[in-house]
Amino acid sequence: MHALAVKLYSSCTNYISMSSLFKPFKIGALEVPNRFMRSATTSYWSDEQGIIRPDIISLYGKLSKGQVGLIVKGHLYISKQGKAHEGQAGICSDEHILKLRELTKVVHDYECKIIAQLNHAGIYSTVDRAGPSEYISEGWKARALSSDEIYEIVESFGDAVERTMASGFDGIQIHGAHGYLISQFLSKLANRRNDQWGGNLENRMRFLVEIYDEIKARVSSNVPIMLKMNCDDFSWNGFTIEESVKVAEAICNKGLSLLEISGGGVGRQNKLRKRAQSHDNELVEATFAGHATKIRAATRSTPMALVNGIRSHKCMDALINKDIADIISMSRPFIREPNLVKKLKNGQPEATCNSCDACISDEVFSKMMLRCHLD
Ligand SMILES: Cc1cc2nc3c(=O)[nH]c(=O)nc-3n(C[C@H](O)[C@H](O)[C@H](O)COP(=O)(O)O)c2cc1C
Repeated sequence: MHALAVKLYSSCTNYISMSSLFKPFKIGALEVPNRFMRSATTSYWSDEQGIIRPDIISLYGKLSKGQVGLIVKGHLYISKQGKAHEGQAGICSDEHILKLRELTKVVHDYECKIIAQLNHAGIYSTVDRAGPSEYISEGWKARALSSDEIYEIVESFGDAVERTMASGFDGIQIHGAHGYLISQFLSKLANRRNDQWGGNLENRMRFLVEIYDEIKARVSSNVPIMLKMNCDDFSWNGFTIEESVKVAEAICNKGLSLLEISGGGVGRQNKLRKRAQSHDNELVEATFAGHATKIRAATRSTPMALVNGIRSHKCMDALINKDIADIISMSRPFIREPNLVKKLKNGQPEATCNSCDACISDEVFSKMMLRCHLD
């Protein structure tokens, strides 16, 4: 090998071996082999009953073989009424357990960890559009849930957690982001109730807190409970960064194991996304890094994962070294390169995903198994 190449190669491998990205990290009692997380990503390919198909199990095998430390399974509906889209997997019936158990076994065979993301779609349900308040959009209308129905949903989260444990998952992630039911309750745009579930922030976060407490009561103390939450809905009069800091602080104080920061809720507008950016040049690709810094300051003792836009090894290292996040979370890059962690470890400087979003276009979503359509 040419002398310069040898020098470059050895400085590159030194850099990589020094990077804490590839070192183990503890999330409560759960030790993960590195700082990489596959953010929840629906494969939109389960059968009509929400039972996962073999293609999905094989995808999780590839991800685990590719050495991603922590995998969050694509969102699972906790009740039939909470189903978000065709092809979504469910965890609302014991019939779901058998295949999910196969999936967790494949992941564990590669010594990887897997978390179940639990969700209710609320006003975006394909079965029964219902949320905190009546909501009217182009071509559809959602009704308001009664207080009894709200308590039933909280209980359904608890029942789903018992099936999650029976399926062999290593923990739970509550889906509190992206405009689904929990995020709808947090948003003053979607939640216009004037009872104990709406109005001030304390009331709007009650649904999330009740779900957290219900889950906590159903699992043993060493099972990690995580939350994916918006830093900002990016909508006029929706959930803001100031509110997100307060909710994050409150839920972390209850003993949350890991907070994953995302963004975008009911009424989102792309042009408002830039307010979440960091002014630090090394962090610009991590599109929510500015807002994440504010949440981090209020929740420092709780491990934090950051998602959205992160692609380069350089930015990943900067996020850890500058103490913005503990865990690097990605979705689309792992659709293209399930073995991305191995590649980064071997010196590939960045993910080859260009965020084209062809994997979520109407032509493919729920019509075929999830895959990258870039080439
Ligand atoms: C095909 C696809 C499916 C997704 N499914 C989920 C999901 O089930 N739950 C969730 O919280 N986010 C879901 N997301 C969002 C991702 O987890 C992630 O927040 C988002 O893609 C931004 O991260 P990225 O830039 O690394 O892709 C999905 C994204 C894609 C592209």
